[in-house]
Amino acid sequence: MTKAEPQVIELAAPVLGEAEKRALAEVIDDRWLTMGDRVRRFEQAFAELHGVDEAVAVSSGTAALQLCLAAFDVGPGAEVLVPSMSFVATASVVVHAGATPVFVDVEGPDRPHMSIEDARRRITGRTRAIMIMHYGGYEMDVAAWRALAGEHGLLLFEDAAHAAGLAGPGATSDAAAFSFFTNKNMTTAEGGMVVIGDPERRQRARLLRSHGMTANTLDRTRGRAVGYDVVACGHNFRMDELRGALGLVQVERLPGWNRTRRELADRYRAELGREVPEVVVPFAPGHRTAAHIMPVLLPDGCDRPRVMAEMRAAGVQTSVHFPAIHQFEYYRRAHGAVSLPNTERFSARQLTLPLHPALEPGDVERVVSALREAIRAAR
Ligand SMILES: Cc1ncc(COP(=O)(O)O)c(C=O)c1O
Repeated sequence: MTKAEPQVIELAAPVLGEAEKRALAEVIDDRWLTMGDRVRRFEQAFAELHGVDEAVAVSSGTAALQLCLAAFDVGPGAEVLVPSMSFVATASVVVHAGATPVFVDVEGPDRPHMSIEDARRRITGRTRAIMIMHYGGYEMDVAAWRALAGEHGLLLFEDAAHAAGLAGPGATSDAAAFSFFTNKNMTTAEGGMVVIGDPERRQRARLLRSHGMTANTLDRTRGRAVGYDVVACGHNFRMDELRGALGLVQVERLPGWNRTRRELADRYRAELGREVPEVVVPFAPGHRTAAHIMPVLLPDGCDRPRVMAEMRAAGVQTSVHFPAIHQFEYYRRAHGAVSLPNTERFSARQLTLPLHPALEPGDVERVVSALREAIRAAR
């Protein structure tokens, strides 16, 4: 008889069940697939949960970021301050807008939020906007960033891809973008949401989401509009009804899942402190968070690929959030060599442990003990 393989502990996993299956089947039965009433209701439910007036559903978090820039006409000639410690989309959307991303360092070698002091130093006459990112779902000090943006007449955008369920993003900044990619705190498979406070800019985002057309297919089918005009050069960033239906189910469960995520993160913190005190856990206990990921920093000089291989052998998936954007080949070539010492040190030591609401009892302990053994082997 072969020995039973231990169950793999996944890094991230969507929570999907009968309610999602039913919701998808209802859309099929109704036979209206493209953006319609379900997407509209999902926007309303999402806005309500986040304490904002309205939200605009789109096809991805990346599209959401692009619409933030486009709705405020950030384009050629503009510089946008962005964190290098983020997913590449935070910077690539700036390039797509025809503007220039200016990379900003993090607060410290073990503090992954973008540094306000470093950002201040990088403001020039061409700077139009600042894009902050709530790393791992851990809330940034938006009021402080608002003040900096105000001092220099800059727009403030939030990449809130990690922060679904956290009230705040979009409430005081110019715009915020959320992601519902499969590994996020709630999912629509692919999808995103834009929150813009200013009604005119929000309307512009709605327009640009669907080719700059004055009426959509549903309006014309229902006889609410005859024909259409095109008043801006837009995109197809629409969300469809299947995703809207998934979103409606998931958004209701999001607050409960985020509570579970926070409890698991606290449990990790305690267990890591006991079992592997040489591992650093970023952020202070109690920092407001949507607990999207569980980041840690390995001891200096520890062989990370070896740690990851040992963990994989022990049935634990891990990842790195993130390889620094400014060190990718494209960005080195297109934007020249940049030195961001704290980002580089953080990125070199960072490891992400499994965190999602479906972790089984005992999984946190199993992950931490696998990490302890992996670090021992990698020394
Ligand atoms: C920080 C950050 N910004 C933007 C995105 C892009 O979102 P999407 O994959 O939905 O386009 C992601 C992740 O996927 C992300 O982690």
